[in-house]
Amino acid sequence: MSQIREQWGSKLGFILAAAGSAVGIGNIWKFPSMAGENGGGAFTIVYLACILIVGLSIVVAEFVIGRKTQLSPVGAFEQLAPSSNWKWVGYLGVAAAFVILSFYGVVGGWILKYIIDSLSGGFAIVSGNTEASGTVFNSFITSTFSPIIYQVLFMGLCIFIIVQGVKGGIEKWSKIMMPLIVVLLGVLAIRGMTLEGGMEGLSFLFNPRFEDLTASAIVLALGHSFFTVSLGMGTMITYGSYLNKKQNLVTSALWVIFLDTAIAMLAGVAIFTTVFALGANPAEGPGLIFVVLPSIFPQIAGGAVWGTLFFILLFMAALTSAISILEVVTAYFIDQKGWSRKKATIQFGSIITIVGIFCSLSLGGGINITGFLGMPFFDFMDYLSAKYMLPIGGMFTAIFILKKWGLSNYMSELKIGMDKMELSPLLVRSLLTIASTIVAFIIFNEIYFEITGKALIG
Ligand code: PHE
Repeated sequence: MSQIREQWGSKLGFILAAAGSAVGIGNIWKFPSMAGENGGGAFTIVYLACILIVGLSIVVAEFVIGRKTQLSPVGAFEQLAPSSNWKWVGYLGVAAAFVILSFYGVVGGWILKYIIDSLSGGFAIVSGNTEASGTVFNSFITSTFSPIIYQVLFMGLCIFIIVQGVKGGIEKWSKIMMPLIVVLLGVLAIRGMTLEGGMEGLSFLFNPRFEDLTASAIVLALGHSFFTVSLGMGTMITYGSYLNKKQNLVTSALWVIFLDTAIAMLAGVAIFTTVFALGANPAEGPGLIFVVLPSIFPQIAGGAVWGTLFFILLFMAALTSAISILEVVTAYFIDQKGWSRKKATIQFGSIITIVGIFCSLSLGGGINITGFLGMPFFDFMDYLSAKYMLPIGGMFTAIFILKKWGLSNYMSELKIGMDKMELSPLLVRSLLTIASTIVAFIIFNEIYFEITGKALIG
């Protein structure tokens, strides 16, 4: 416990690290396919509203709690509300980190494999044939060893970065990878728009088709706004705990949200322009990235290069998110148990990798573990975290401020570093109240659906 707490090296470093956590598979894989299936621009509008109301207020809340206590979630809640049950919100976060990283690491592995396939010209055999591409993808993810080897490699890289610490690991790598992600995506988006027929992809993504926007799509947008900004499990508390008092937490949060949203949109542009130019099916859903894209890249001039660049940028986005998840676990063992960074990271990174192996195997590669609710263990871990753990964690964080810590204590920490910027306590209270109410309703709706088979909305 006697270790001196690490700090970010610069304001920009912190913003890029936090944005690196936010920008991940969720932006490039999940958002475009969700928007594609659920009304294009109509979905995007709802998503933006969710991010601005719910996302923004909870990102700021997490930063404030982290910076105030200089501790990761469990210790932070314990310090602000000693001898109470609030520390369980912190434990829920640590548990969520285990759950998310176990399946996230598996997808990270798939991405690594696709970089290699694209580089070696392996997409050529599925050129123009989505069905063949689907078969290749399925036989890969349902095989026993190959996905595990890539997953272990991906997790090894995460552990390698986290062992190097906050400034020397997370910040250093985020500063390299985040600008690269933006540049590569920008290039791919321009490439897509200049393909013949590519512009149609833009109208697919941005023209609102309200008739396709169902109530369940609205629920989906809300749930996704937690996942995409890494909320509700203390990632942003942990990152905020390495801050000094000079940072303006509101502008930092705005930057993180802006970058997260801009990158999701840019990914949508890059993907849909290409999909439309080649006449592929835009509403493919989750198969868009691993099935449709590999079948269309070989049809574009220089396709192997574009494909490789795409999977490299997806890999970097996944890695900067995965490290932030591992950091929550590592920070817990450093702060609460007094462990060294190296020991905490290696031990728990390995345990998460092992849980991840079971996720991978549950897709068909051997042991048939059907989790609860009859889903493969992999899907169950995704479902459990995105639908319950993150929203519940986020909701309790907002309630904690309103009901336990107190708005005035919260505001006095929030104001530090804001210079002349003014914030009305009434506005802050209203946003936190709206956020927690909406989220409570969504969670209730989900549980009601699981029990009765009918949702109140959606
Ligand atoms: N925000 C990440 C993404 O969009 C996922 C993530 C969730 C990261 C929760 C950290 C914590 O892919």
